[in-house]
Amino acid sequence: MRTPIIAGNWKLFKKCCDAQDFVAKLIPLVQKTSDVEIVIAPVFTVLSTVKQAIAGSNIKLSAQDCFWEEEGAFTGEISPGMLVDAGCSHVIIGHSERRQYFGETDETVNRKIKAAIAAGLTVLFCIGETLAERETDKTFEVLRTQVENGLAGLARDDLAKVVIAYEPVWAIGTGKTATDEQAQVAHAFIRKVVGELFTVQLAEAIRILYGGSVKPENVRGLMNQPDIDGALVGGASLKADSFGAIVNYKA
Ligand code: G3H
Repeated sequence: MRTPIIAGNWKLFKKCCDAQDFVAKLIPLVQKTSDVEIVIAPVFTVLSTVKQAIAGSNIKLSAQDCFWEEEGAFTGEISPGMLVDAGCSHVIIGHSERRQYFGETDETVNRKIKAAIAAGLTVLFCIGETLAERETDKTFEVLRTQVENGLAGLARDDLAKVVIAYEPVWAIGTGKTATDEQAQVAHAFIRKVVGELFTVQLAEAIRILYGGSVKPENVRGLMNQPDIDGALVGGASLKADSFGAIVNYKA
């Protein structure tokens, strides 16, 4: 059985006060939810505020990125060990916004994934095709390449620390969700590729999240799909009510 994960990616939103308010509202909404892993990814400067606010709750802390070196003369970067030190258990790597705006490549994603796992973090490894790639029937090719390159050189044991997030770029922040069937087809394909690269057993165990305009209204249909194990939520994770409703999708 794969424990579902609902992760909120706050992107470049929320300062400390907003984050405190959010957590204070979210905790009562989700404190009885025991069968879903709940993760929040604030900006770096808010990590310690959220760490204190979630103490003793069932909410886990994630960063939105990290560098692959542990320390050194790398101005502006943050290392996986520093994220652990700040209270993170998870880190998002390879988000399409980092690929699109900050020059992230499959190679840098791979280096970051390896470093994050070595530091003991669980990686939310993002992949997904653009609209142009979907419209030219390249979706499967793109997903295969991203999975192969992102997970290159990982040992079988490492896979327990990897969660894949399938986020079709055309569905991010657009209000245009993939249909349940479109998402399921992509997830099943990704699981198949993981099985080819590692083992079928490991592919069955890995969790694959869907991301792209997930809302309280559409989460249940997505979660009913056999290969969808959770959601990486952007916009709808910014309000405690809507994020809480997504976390409690079974209710
Ligand atoms: O990381 C989250 C995704 O980019 C989805 O964002 O829910 O605002 O479409 P969205």
